[in-house]
Amino acid sequence: MSRIFNFSAGPSTLPESVLLKAKEELLDWRGSGMSVMEMSHRGKEFMSIAEELKSDLIELLNIPDNYKVLFLQGGATGQFAFIPQNILKTKSKACYVNTGAWSGKAVKEAQKYCDVLVSANSESSNYTDIPPFSNWNVDEQAAYLHYTDNETIHGVEFNDIPEFGDIPLVCDMSSNILSRSIDVSKFGIIYAGSQKNMGPAGVTIVIVRDDLVGHADKNIPSVFDYAQQAKNDSMLNTPATYNWYLVGLVLKWIKESGGIDTMQKQNKLKSDNLYQAIEQSSLYSNPVKKEFRSRMNVPFVLANADLDKSFLSLAAENGLSSLKGHRSVGGMRASIYNAMPKEGVTALIDFMREFERTHG
Ligand SMILES: Cc1ncc(COP(=O)(O)O)c(C=O)c1O
Repeated sequence: MSRIFNFSAGPSTLPESVLLKAKEELLDWRGSGMSVMEMSHRGKEFMSIAEELKSDLIELLNIPDNYKVLFLQGGATGQFAFIPQNILKTKSKACYVNTGAWSGKAVKEAQKYCDVLVSANSESSNYTDIPPFSNWNVDEQAAYLHYTDNETIHGVEFNDIPEFGDIPLVCDMSSNILSRSIDVSKFGIIYAGSQKNMGPAGVTIVIVRDDLVGHADKNIPSVFDYAQQAKNDSMLNTPATYNWYLVGLVLKWIKESGGIDTMQKQNKLKSDNLYQAIEQSSLYSNPVKKEFRSRMNVPFVLANADLDKSFLSLAAENGLSSLKGHRSVGGMRASIYNAMPKEGVTALIDFMREFERTHG
C-alpha cells in the first residue's frame, strides 16, 4: 500500500489512524457482530456512537450549555438557505460580509429570503483582503450578521471575531472549524460541512444558540427546522450514520493528538513554513495580504503560467496530489487541514524548491 500526500480542498485527506480504525471495525463494531453501516440508528450501539460524537464536539470546542449541537444533511450550501428561514424571525433584513467565493454564494442564496445588506466587500481587491471592522456598514437592527471565517478558494482567513452590539453573529467555519480555539459564546450560529477538518462529506454541523431556535418560517421543511431537529437529537429523519461514526473517529483522533491547542500550533507551523517558502522564491507568489493568509488553504501562482501543467504532473509523480487551484482563481492551492501531516508540507516545499531550481 502506498499513500500519497493529498492536498485536496475537500473532501480531503483523513488521518491514517482513523482510516485504519474504520477498517478494523468495518465488519464487526466492537463485538456487536455488525458494521456501523448496518446498525439501526435507534439501537443502543449507534446511540452510544451518537452520544460520544456530540459530547466530544462539545468538549473540543468548549460549547456552552445554551447552545444546541445539530448534525444535519444538505451541506453548508443547505445552511445558506436554512439560516435565513430559521432565524429571520419577524425581520426582513440580514447583513452579510463578502470576502470571497463562498460568502458570495451565501449572499445569493439569502437574497431569496430577505433583503441583504452587504456590510463589507473585498471584491475590488480580488478577495485578497478583509476590510477593517471600523469600515463595515452593519445595521444592528438586522436579523443577523453573516461572515465566512475561512475562504477556501481565495485562501483568506479572519484573525479576529467581529462584534457589533447584540446582532447575532453567524459564521461559516466549513474550512477551518477545529483548527484553532474559538470562543463559541460570541456566536449566534456556527456551521460547517464535515469534509475538510472533520471527516468525509455528508454531515453538516450546526451549533446554534438557544434564543435562535424555534422561530423557523412555517414553510421550512421539518428536517431543516432547528427546533424540530434539536427536539429529535438530529434524528428527525434517518441520519448519515456511518458518516457520524467517521466524524466521531476524527474527533477522538484530535483529542488523542492533544486537542485543539495542538492542532492550532501544528497548523501555524505548517502554514508558516509554506508561506515562507513562497516568500523566499521568485517563481511562486501568494496575493493575499499577510495578516489574512489562510492557515488551511494556501493558493499560489507561478510567475510563468505555462509551467503550471508540468508543475502539476511532476508533483503527482512525486506523490503530491490535488494541487490545482480552483478554476475561478487558477494557479495552485495546497489545502493543509488538521490531517495533513507536517511531513506532507515539508515534501511539498522540497518539491517546489527543486522545481524552481530546474524550471525557474
Ligand atoms: C467555506 C465554505 N462554505 C461552504 C461550502 C459548501 O459546502 P458544501 O459543499 O458542504 O455544501 C464550502 C465547500 O467547499 C466551503 O469551503
